[in-house]
Amino acid sequence: CGIVGCIGIENVVDYLIEGLKELEYRGYDSAGIAVLDNGELKTIKAVGKIKNLEDKISKVKLNKPSVGIAHTRWATHGKPTEINAHPHRGEFSAVVHNGIIENYQEIKKFLQKEGVNFLSQTDTEVIVKLFEYYYNGDEVEAFQKTLEKLDGAYAILLISEKFPKKILFAKKGSPLIVAKNENKIYFASSDAPLIGHATTAHYLEDDEWGWVDEEIHIFKGHEKLSPRFKDLPNNKESAKKSGFRFYMEKEIYEQYDVLKENTLGRNTEYGIHFEELDREFFEGINNIIISACGTSYHAGLVGKYLLERDAKIRTNVEVASELRYREPLLTKDTLFVVISQSGETADTLETLKMAKKAGLKTLALCNVDNSSIVREADRTILLRAGIEKGVASTKAFATQVMTLWMLSNYLAKKNEYHIINEAIEVTKVDATLHEKIKRLSKRYLHGHGFFYIGRDIFFPLALEGALKLKEISYIHAEGYPAGEMKHGPIALADPDLYVVALLSKNILFEKTKSNIEELVARDATVLTISSEYIEMTDDFVKINDTSHPMVEFFEMMVVTQLLAMEVAIRMGNDVDMPRNLAKSVTVE
Ligand code: G6P
Repeated sequence: CGIVGCIGIENVVDYLIEGLKELEYRGYDSAGIAVLDNGELKTIKAVGKIKNLEDKISKVKLNKPSVGIAHTRWATHGKPTEINAHPHRGEFSAVVHNGIIENYQEIKKFLQKEGVNFLSQTDTEVIVKLFEYYYNGDEVEAFQKTLEKLDGAYAILLISEKFPKKILFAKKGSPLIVAKNENKIYFASSDAPLIGHATTAHYLEDDEWGWVDEEIHIFKGHEKLSPRFKDLPNNKESAKKSGFRFYMEKEIYEQYDVLKENTLGRNTEYGIHFEELDREFFEGINNIIISACGTSYHAGLVGKYLLERDAKIRTNVEVASELRYREPLLTKDTLFVVISQSGETADTLETLKMAKKAGLKTLALCNVDNSSIVREADRTILLRAGIEKGVASTKAFATQVMTLWMLSNYLAKKNEYHIINEAIEVTKVDATLHEKIKRLSKRYLHGHGFFYIGRDIFFPLALEGALKLKEISYIHAEGYPAGEMKHGPIALADPDLYVVALLSKNILFEKTKSNIEELVARDATVLTISSEYIEMTDDFVKINDTSHPMVEFFEMMVVTQLLAMEVAIRMGNDVDMPRNLAKSVTVE
């Protein structure tokens, strides 16, 4: 979900809509705005994309309101309907909220007993209803009382007819930024909407709250704080599509540049250098646990192969939502590594907090500076992938894997300077290759599902390739270790079963080839990606010949990304905004 808010400009509606569009990739089953229009509170909401909301707003008469809040929602409690969309209203106030109020049922019951009515099924509505219940002419006191009652995570903005020149705000466990440009004050749940409007920003910390009028008033508990302003960048262009059909396509093509950026000053002729790290930090470390979700988890799995093989450090990789509740043994000789593009994924963040509490050293691999995860971790290696807009992660994954590769080189004191550069080279998208994949994709639209198979580091790549396809084409796909197919899944083989085989020349070539043969013999339709031509399969995508598996890895990665995208485009899907998904999942 995403939040924006604004006070002090002539017509806030434009900023709110523009801001929501910037945030749309974070979740978009419904959206809404609330404004104070000549002192009167008006809310407008719509299900679906921001465009629907825009159309509705254009039909409402507004007199250039100068105070407003807005929200784009990804349903957690209650269905994506207009009633459940934010802002939520009381009699005279409106609120937008990211996060989850864990004790909302309890508060709701209490208020219902007191005669308060509820319209929606959301946890958010209790915030505004509780606020109005406490309101007695002093909004600050009522807001504080409300916050005291809320358990869970939130970023909140609240406006009201009773104080038409103010926005109240609070942050705990869910990101919120307050920013300004002279006496214009802006809110957003991430940087993107602020760029080009505000010049300087205060990234709110947990338990900070306050209000804005002509100025920003921030408190922690009862103590007043002075804002910790940081300059905001002003280059919005980099976040636009620049000629590509989709952000995802642009981001696939950008991988070559971002990998250069990612390795700059780190991959040197003399070996790996991380400004962010020193050898002392790793003293006493015998194990690594990597915690992450989704694509970042797949990058972590590649890291395990590299760290154990090269750096000889026992490494376990875990899905954060599992690790969090399974009472893991966390010993102090373990380095706890979290991987996250956004730096806001709730489950990943919570495992990081858990590890810190257990006294472990922590390291984050993250793409967003100042994000919650970066602020929490002892050390951070920034991925330098730039803003990633496509919900299906591509360039962030590339930089995650590259960073893990460099980290394992660093720990192993191994110098693969030239090989790393070779791996970057092959991520340059070749037009002929792209054309070929576009053509091939036609064949893979109507089967009963996909298997992506590979061995060693190509197994996590198979998982990631399958995830990409699932996310944007809505076709069932599974990543599988090539050698494991015979233990069950091969029963599914027939001409309508599609297999994408990642055949490395450098790791277990003959064994993987036999696994492919087994599938061909059972009539599966197979697309092989390899530098070594093999005759038997239906389709073949040739990659560059190389003597290093990581070079093969990066080129195959590009091929699987393009394939997923071309299949999804043929299916007529919105590649950048696949149904049911959110770019950043700040709820459990
Ligand atoms: C969401 C996104 C995925 C992403 C995952 C982890 O589910 O849709 O693309 O891999 O979150 O996100 P993170 O920002 O922590 O890498």
